[in-house]
Amino acid sequence: MKKVAPQTPQKYHPALVALHWAIALLIFANVVLGGASEDGGTGPGGIPIINFHMSLGITILVLMFARLVVRLKTKHPSWADTGNAFLNKIGELTHWALYILAIGMPLTGILLARDNDELRLLFGSAAGLVPSIGLGRIHGLIWALLLLLILLHFGAAMFHQFFIKDNLLKRMTFGKK
Ligand code: HEM
Repeated sequence: MKKVAPQTPQKYHPALVALHWAIALLIFANVVLGGASEDGGTGPGGIPIINFHMSLGITILVLMFARLVVRLKTKHPSWADTGNAFLNKIGELTHWALYILAIGMPLTGILLARDNDELRLLFGSAAGLVPSIGLGRIHGLIWALLLLLILLHFGAAMFHQFFIKDNLLKRMTFGKK
């Protein structure tokens, strides 16, 4: 029997669509929580805001791994075409860089928290006197890069939608073609 070539889908898998928008929302929520936790604020029940920030960060990490698995295991549309090979390559690289940074962000957060706890165990309240090994700065640097790429990604999505007019946003929505 003749083998029929599998069709390239027009849209991403619904699980990937759900994960894409949920993670986008959670990333922004966690940036707000991260900012609010900086002066040692507390939330409902007197729980430190940093606890909510860390929990949400770990949730994002788990969802990002789930997303990576779904991305690798499901069929997806071919890379969007801008009509320019260089821009197409930038688009492709941006997507993978978003994965790396969105995973790197919570990972460095976990390392940072572990680092802080270990210092506190060793030095008690004097931990604050020990110079940081810079994980906090790396966590912040990754956020700066991630924000830059998210802005690039958002701009590219709008460029496709309103200038190239290829209705690219539809690929990241639920429903049939
Ligand atoms: C309001 C903001 C956002 C808009 C409008 C948007 C829009 C889109 C669209 C239309 C696609 C499909 C592109 C294509 O088919 O080539 C897409 C894919 C993608 N988006 Fe976003 N996005 C947003 C936020 C984010 C954020 C915050 C992340 C950070 C993790 C992200 C990561 C990705 C990735 C990695 C892909 C490639 C598909 C995949 O492999 O999962 N997006 N986005």
